[in-house]
Amino acid sequence: MRNYEVEATWHYHNGTKHPNGMLLSRFHMYHPSQRPTPYKIYKNISQIILPIEKNPIGVSTLDAISTNLDIKDETVPNLQTLSRILYFSAGITKKIKFQGLGEMDFRAASCTGALYHIEVYVVCSDIAGLDAGVYHFDPKDMKLDVIRRGDYRGKILDSAANESFTKHAPVMLVFTDVFARNSIKYQSREYRHAFWDSGTILANTLAITTAHKIPSKIITGFVDSQIGHLLGVDMVQEVPLVILPLGITNQEMPPTPDLIDINLEAISSDYEIEYPEINAMHDSSCLLNNTEVSAWRNEMVIEPKSQSQLIQLEKKINCNEPIEQTIIKRGSTRKFSLESITFEQLSTILSCATSGINSDFVNNETLSDLYVIVNAVDGLDSGSYYYVKEKNSLELLRKGNFRHTSGNLGLNQDLPYDASMTIFFMTDLKKILEQFGNRGYRAAQLDSAIAGGKAYLASYALGLGATGLTFYDDAVTSFFSPHATDKEAMFLIAIGKKEKTNQISS
Ligand SMILES: Cc1cc2nc3c(=O)[nH]c(=O)nc-3n(C[C@H](O)[C@H](O)[C@H](O)COP(=O)(O)O)c2cc1C
Repeated sequence: MRNYEVEATWHYHNGTKHPNGMLLSRFHMYHPSQRPTPYKIYKNISQIILPIEKNPIGVSTLDAISTNLDIKDETVPNLQTLSRILYFSAGITKKIKFQGLGEMDFRAASCTGALYHIEVYVVCSDIAGLDAGVYHFDPKDMKLDVIRRGDYRGKILDSAANESFTKHAPVMLVFTDVFARNSIKYQSREYRHAFWDSGTILANTLAITTAHKIPSKIITGFVDSQIGHLLGVDMVQEVPLVILPLGITNQEMPPTPDLIDINLEAISSDYEIEYPEINAMHDSSCLLNNTEVSAWRNEMVIEPKSQSQLIQLEKKINCNEPIEQTIIKRGSTRKFSLESITFEQLSTILSCATSGINSDFVNNETLSDLYVIVNAVDGLDSGSYYYVKEKNSLELLRKGNFRHTSGNLGLNQDLPYDASMTIFFMTDLKKILEQFGNRGYRAAQLDSAIAGGKAYLASYALGLGATGLTFYDDAVTSFFSPHATDKEAMFLIAIGKKEKTNQISS
């Protein structure tokens, strides 16, 4: 199986490392005036208006992020709930005017460069208020574009090799990536961003579905070409990344209508820039038929690592801010003050970030290992730490003032220097590739980004600020070594107190 020829992942991953990855040009320039339209626009398509109702339903952000639902009873979202899920995942939550650039729409979840290259589709049975169909979510007008009418969930089930949760789900979300919208700025590193930016959206989706008591499961193993065909995406410029079946229905899935080719006229991106290394990485991690999918699917067993001297973290802070309010007010912090955060805040964020996900590669767990640089946390020495998830404790790696290091590792930006703490999500990529092949790269990136997205939400719920950051890959590994010798950096988030500023988002 080509998926297990994992040199493809190492070639891509090492080649897109900062600062000297051979697949990145140091002379590449991007100016915000080149920003592509961040929406997929269909011509001549029927649309369904989504009801907008944003009032909180009363579930706190911290509970919504850290609860793993165990529901077996029938749970079918109606159109209203579906609309809320879409809005709080990928809807427009604010508009900001920038001098010389005009007004920009910002979305519910953070996104590298605010380029919004992730599209969301819905594949569903008949639900209250919405007929069975395949739809594309149009966040600009809060509408669904009708791609196909009829119940096509069977195609997803088939492509996911009869996956047990998918079999009973009345609604399935599919996230796709429009490469060019993000690669225009980030070149071939875009393919990492595909999963980072899907992950931050998914952190919101999971929180909002949990608040509505709708169970879900993240599906990363499917026959890529079949899903592409179903959605009518070209598989060169736009590809499916992840599927999220939602809810449980007792109704049998009806036979799927024939899948005729569709050729809908749509503009996904203003630019058709190609980075062949992105397509090569994607293709090498594709699963070609459902026999490959079922052979691939296998949850990872996470082994606890025992440590000696540990610092026990505090219990989670009790904070009642509703999830909807957190999402609406969230926005990446552009400037941190140098003030301290509390030990309880650090404890709560780490425990929320690692509450785990229900997926086809890990069950209520996370693949990520968290390393922390503490710059200013009351009651905790500044230094570098490893978070021991199973004991909710920190292991001190090195005591010291690492503000400069934190700033340097985060691409020499001020944000990680000024922040009270920076969390590096790292993973043993070799081990993951051994089990999952190249497809494991997708899972590893996604997993760390969901955990990062949860850290974003927890920080905001606690009244703090946060921002995702990019990083110097190998320098991160060296800094946390020998502890992190075999690990690769996957995601970075800086957290602290916000300082008010008018800086433009990068
Ligand atoms: C994974 C990730 C990496 C990011 N990297 C940086 C970065 O290196 N520097 C920076 O200033 N902002 C960074 N951001 C923040 C984005 O610029 C920000 O999310 C985007 O402008 C949208 O704004 P919002 O988060 O306020 O909605 C990053 C965001 C994410 C999700």
